[in-house]
Amino acid sequence: MSAAARPANRKVTLTTLHALRERGEAAVFLTAYDYPTAVFADRAGVDMLLVGDSAAMTMLGHANTLSITMPEMLVFAGAVARGAKRPFVIGDMPFLSYQVSDELAVQNAGAFVAAGCDAIKCEGGARVARRVQAMTDAGIAVMGHLGLTPQSLGQQGGYRVQGKTLNAVDQLIDDAQALQEAGAFGVLLEAVPAEAAAYIRESVDFLVYGIGAGPHVDGQLVISHDLLGNFVGDIQPRFVSRYANVDDVVESAFRAYAGDVRERRFPAPQHCYPIDPSHEAQIRDARRSRRRTSALPEIALDQLTQLAAGAR
Ligand code: KIV
Repeated sequence: MSAAARPANRKVTLTTLHALRERGEAAVFLTAYDYPTAVFADRAGVDMLLVGDSAAMTMLGHANTLSITMPEMLVFAGAVARGAKRPFVIGDMPFLSYQVSDELAVQNAGAFVAAGCDAIKCEGGARVARRVQAMTDAGIAVMGHLGLTPQSLGQQGGYRVQGKTLNAVDQLIDDAQALQEAGAFGVLLEAVPAEAAAYIRESVDFLVYGIGAGPHVDGQLVISHDLLGNFVGDIQPRFVSRYANVDDVVESAFRAYAGDVRERRFPAPQHCYPIDPSHEAQIRDARRSRRRTSALPEIALDQLTQLAAGAR
């Protein structure tokens, strides 16, 4: 990474992304769904953040991405936008937020921009080109998404690699060109063989990013939970490389805390608020005399019990 290409505090824009591509530098692209992750990614020099609808799975525990809603996505998008001062932030349009009509697409894309996103992403090629045109006509930067498109899970028959034959790649090229003509600034290719992705990139004249699409693209996206090791689920894509074991770190911290609480090692004196010793003594005295007063009824009850026993 050349420092000149990535000035530490200069906001990444489409101009920056084109400049990176011209210099042959890969953009660093991650998903983020919350404020701290966005801040850490920003500090680490990440160029682009996708507030993915994968939040349905990574953050909300759903089985797939289909059930996440616009209000839920906007909470995640706002948090990421507040944390990411430098990265280019892209909001991911959830299922049925753009498929139904141009009006709904523009309204929902606009809501992501109002929440602080720099652009939006939507899945599909030629069949969503009209929507893409409507959103770009409204002044919104749009990224397409081709290949494995999780919102078409039913049609694609699961999470399957796409573009494995020349015919299939030709179809992806037609779709990418339709997105470009509709005004999209780029496309994300998911789960596509490297050779196919290279061919698609050479066939269009806009930015091409990849997640599981090999090295011949303008930048690499990974889901941050996969990279950090805190995804709770069974999906383990081939293209993911783990850089941390956050699951182990978090679980062992919680276990250590539980042990300290149960063994009464926590809280220790250093976790307690100190006060003036004379005030502390007064409070202690008050506690003692309260204990004596509240003990009285028990003594009286004892005496009554003894009296009753004597009367018998
Ligand atoms: O939602 C998401 O994170 C995505 C990626 C899987 C490409 O769309």
